[in-house]
Amino acid sequence: MSPRAAAEATATARANIALAKYWGKSDVALNLPAVPSLSLTLDGLVTETRVRFDATLDADRVQLDGRAASTREAARVVRLLDAVRAACAEPRRAEVLSANRFPTAAGLASSASGFAALAAATVAAAGLDWGPHRVSALARASSASAARSVYGGFVELPAGSPGDAALAAVPLYGPDYWDVRLVVAVTATGPKAVGSTEGMERSRRTSPYYQAWLDAAPRSFAAIKRALDGRDLDTLGRAMEHSTFAFHACALAADPAIAYFRPATLAALETVRALRDAGVSAWATMDAGPHVKVLCAAGDAGRVQAALDATAGVLDTLVARPGAGVEVRR
Ligand code: DP6
Repeated sequence: MSPRAAAEATATARANIALAKYWGKSDVALNLPAVPSLSLTLDGLVTETRVRFDATLDADRVQLDGRAASTREAARVVRLLDAVRAACAEPRRAEVLSANRFPTAAGLASSASGFAALAAATVAAAGLDWGPHRVSALARASSASAARSVYGGFVELPAGSPGDAALAAVPLYGPDYWDVRLVVAVTATGPKAVGSTEGMERSRRTSPYYQAWLDAAPRSFAAIKRALDGRDLDTLGRAMEHSTFAFHACALAADPAIAYFRPATLAALETVRALRDAGVSAWATMDAGPHVKVLCAAGDAGRVQAALDATAGVLDTLVARPGAGVEVRR
């Protein structure tokens, strides 16, 4: 039996959207990003994860959304559990129950909220008093975007130099800093064609534009950070679109091509352009998938959502506001 008092904890974390994109790793083994990224944590898109260390278990047990995790999913979770066990000589196996409270077909269920919640819950269940910086570094080792979901509001994840195992995200501004909205247009159902981890690696190995992306990304990041400091939506939006299209161009030029665009993706991008022509400051971003996410002022969200709802092929829309970081209860 372990003498540790705290054996279980529950954490919630929210998804985030990168305004300046992370794409590519400087150190695959440590999962360090090759470029700096900047994100907004989103309210309402929540993962809740409970971790319980149990001396009677002879193997870790992982359940995701009420079903047993696949071998691949479980291996990723066990790796994080092992890292925490190694840090504190915790001998017990664990039961992990994780559930996404995402609106139906949000098209946003990502590893970011999942690994942020898992990292925070595991650290608390192990009785460790780690601060958010260390929890963020732990989450980052599993999925780099998860490092950002540890914090609420606007968050930076610097690029990592090879070997920098302590790299973590840095909070810039809380959720109340700027009353913006992210309107999500869902353009397809089902899992994405190529996951981000694989997509980045294929881009690095085969895309002639990979180095060009690495060269350009820090400039978009710096422009986005400056525009955020000045709450300048037009400037931020323009740099954000550049960051998105530059990483997608890099992925498109991989061999075989990584093409996330669907007909409805292009239609939604046209809608965003038309909104701008009509005087609305609305700006598009996309992740490793076909959905279009539109940043705008809170007062314009209704109009942006209505325009996307009326776009051919758009299946669903939702509006998210800035959200909080991880929350833990024992
Ligand atoms: C396009 O964080 O999912 O959404 O570190 O390999 O788990 P791994 O990748 P992940 O990549 C996210 C890529 C992105 C851009 C972003 O969120 O910055």
